[in-house]
Amino acid sequence: MDTQKIVQNALAAGYVVPAFNIPHLPMMEPITRAVADEKSIGMIQVARLEWEKFEAESLEKVAELYGKYKKPGYTLLHLDHVPVVDEDHLEVDYLSIIRRALKAGYQSVMVDGSRLPLEGNIAATKAAAEIAHAAGVPIEAELGAVMGHETSQQSIPYEEIFAGKMGFTKVDEAVRFVKESGCDWLSVAVGSVHGAIADNLLDKKKPAAKLDIQRIAELRSALGIPLVLHGGSGIVESYITAGIKAGIAKINVGTELRQPYERALRETGSVEAAQESVYTRCRELIRDFLHTAGNAEILNK
Ligand code: 13P
Repeated sequence: MDTQKIVQNALAAGYVVPAFNIPHLPMMEPITRAVADEKSIGMIQVARLEWEKFEAESLEKVAELYGKYKKPGYTLLHLDHVPVVDEDHLEVDYLSIIRRALKAGYQSVMVDGSRLPLEGNIAATKAAAEIAHAAGVPIEAELGAVMGHETSQQSIPYEEIFAGKMGFTKVDEAVRFVKESGCDWLSVAVGSVHGAIADNLLDKKKPAAKLDIQRIAELRSALGIPLVLHGGSGIVESYITAGIKAGIAKINVGTELRQPYERALRETGSVEAAQESVYTRCRELIRDFLHTAGNAEILNK
């Protein structure tokens, strides 16, 4: 399967490629099964903070498990957020993490320099893009601030973030960023917020997020590359549909599957029961929310 072609096909056909996070390793099996049973394309992805702060163990462990449960024709393996500066404001040896992921067989990778000023983000992304491209792998980058992971920002009411377009990706900066960094897909800040990682918020419902559809359309026409939406859980459905039409070609979904897993495990003590609740929710999302059921054939062409 050609990841770059699949995401390009999604953009051209008005579909989205969902990318499901694996904060707990037993989530791998039900998610790959749900994706294949719905005949959808779906990425399996893990972010650095999921092996640092949740239970994904390591990128290599996720790749190994993916090798066991992957569904050829339906699933792909992606490395989510490798921050250059992380949520605790610490510098990360991001290039060596990306090198490890390429060695482990990841089919696309993300570098997240969005906590840096524009120049620094461009330089960091360019360095990562050179490594990924030398391995023939597409790279996603981020520009703008998708709110949520930083505890200080969690106290700002959502409506205030949206009304003030706080951290939203600016079109002129994005044009320069893509041209100079060489990234293939761009994660944009247009109204969605990341799922919480603070202990007291893990099980809370996310705010019903909206999207700035006009900004998405402007970014798409100015950049001409696939746009990525992070914080895919909890967005109002009509905005998702409009956002995909406007140019979102990959969407990251974490909390929508993590919460059912953790809840079922807490209530039943059974990993199998928790896996089944992930399977059921993942199929619902694909069918009723993302509308990608049955699109594998079209996107693989
Ligand atoms: P949610 O947890 O809000 O779905 O966000 C996931 C995400 O963006 C991972 O990069």
